[in-house]
Amino acid sequence: MVDWASKYVPPTSHPHVLEVGSGNGTLLLALVDAGFDASKLAGVDYSPDAVKLAQMIASTRNGELVSFSVCDFLTEVPPPPSKTTDAWDLILDKGTYDAIALGEKDADGRSPASGYPVRVSNLLKENGFFLITSCNFTEEELKKNFITLETGLKYHSRINHPTISFGGKSGSVYATVAFQKI
Ligand SMILES: C[S@@+](CC[C@H](N)C(=O)[O-])C[C@H]1O[C@@H](n2cnc3c(N)ncnc32)[C@H](O)[C@@H]1O
Repeated sequence: MVDWASKYVPPTSHPHVLEVGSGNGTLLLALVDAGFDASKLAGVDYSPDAVKLAQMIASTRNGELVSFSVCDFLTEVPPPPSKTTDAWDLILDKGTYDAIALGEKDADGRSPASGYPVRVSNLLKENGFFLITSCNFTEEELKKNFITLETGLKYHSRINHPTISFGGKSGSVYATVAFQKI
């Protein structure tokens, strides 16, 4: 994901990057190591313990300027990237959509993940990117869920992962897909 970001949203463009469900913050800190401006990186997670841990790790790895905050992405709006805009150049998700989709369905049978694609899209700049890695959804399922009239997202590219073969079939354990808001 770091290589993808470095290619399509290079550090020289000083992008604002948000990670949804940033956990211990390792992905954002890897972006700092790759030359991204730490002060423009933010992670949100609904677990206060995860946020505390990420802040602690960041303070030992030149990542003090990365902002980590507690936010339930399904019900709250993350803090904006700057005073002048509330939109991001790149939003990252590594395993969070998967985790959300495992939650209980509501009385109407709707998955808690059903509103997620539109929430992501609403926070992206025009031409901004959403890069997601999933181990629960295939690339085709991600495309079906994220490319809708409501989101305005289009397929941009994918990251190839090593394939495994089993029972005469082969496939990847992970899918990483990039979407662009057009
Ligand atoms: C599988 S972990 C991935 C963590 C991190 N992205 C990584 O790759 O190490 C999923 C993360 O999403 C967070 N999460 C789950 N539901 C969330 C929600 N509704 N809002 C914000 N964070 C959420 C969890 O607390 C957890 O840290």
